Amino acid sequence: MMGNLLNAVRFLRVMLRYRRAGASFLLRGLEIVPGFRRKVVYLQDRYQVKQQMKLRQQSIGHALGDRTIVCTWAGHQVCSLRLPEGVEATADQFFLNRPIRDAMHVIKLASQFVQIRPGELVFDPGCGAGRHLYYFVDSLGCRAIGIDIYKPAIEVAQTANWDRRVRFLSQSSIEPGILESVLPQGCDYVFINSWLNHIKDYPGYEEFARRVVMKCRYLLVITSTKDQLDRLLDLAEILAHEVRDGTQFALLRGSLSQTLSPT
Ligand SMILES: C[S@@+](CC[C@H](N)C(=O)[O-])C[C@H]1O[C@@H](n2cnc3c(N)ncnc32)[C@H](O)[C@@H]1O
Repeated sequence: MMGNLLNAVRFLRVMLRYRRAGASFLLRGLEIVPGFRRKVVYLQDRYQVKQQMKLRQQSIGHALGDRTIVCTWAGHQVCSLRLPEGVEATADQFFLNRPIRDAMHVIKLASQFVQIRPGELVFDPGCGAGRHLYYFVDSLGCRAIGIDIYKPAIEVAQTANWDRRVRFLSQSSIEPGILESVLPQGCDYVFINSWLNHIKDYPGYEEFARRVVMKCRYLLVITSTKDQLDRLLDLAEILAHEVRDGTQFALLRGSLSQTLSPT
């Protein structure tokens, strides 16, 4: 109940600050009206742009490109709304319209081995606009730290962070030394969602993967990459694993599982 209230305030803040994204979210609600359709039209071929960014080893995975929300009713266009790349597109894609079902599913999968408790520290190395971290904080009472290299994502995350319950940083998680400075004592959970596929081939990933396992008790992972998790996070022991609609959900054991006791 309290979690829902906190979440509603976060949503309101994001909707009021990013009005176009807010309008897009409200239009989505109209999809319950018979005959009403809302679709997102991208103004460029995002696949090609992504491939080029990958070749140049630029950061990828954020809300890429301007987009237009086009709504029709009974086959007639009734409105169109342009969302420019940056904070508006990010608020739309990675906050207001980002479902948390996937996070709830991995938590349920993990629950046969671990129970997440209030006060435990969750770290997300590619947190986007923080949508999932807020679930850990508001509904499960955790503490949280999120990093994202894309500044507009952190700006949206901070807009929702009115109570400063989450610590957000805008930088690359795979730069040497980041984990040591952000998690000097380690953490209880590393939560990784839709991030490994963007980062796994970049220089610095392998070292990050080794260090992050040493810095936590458990890892909760959601990824659509086909690569096996025991190769991507080779020091961690897989405790639970499930593939659903092409997405891997897993709980892995980190090195601190024996030493760091829950706070
Ligand atoms: C597909 S989004 C997922 C965001 C969030 N985990 C979610 O599920 O909503 C991937 C995110 O990874 C971020 N990212 C890419 N490279 C990164 C890096 N080196 N360090 C931190 N974040 C990075 C992108 O900016 C983007 O926000």
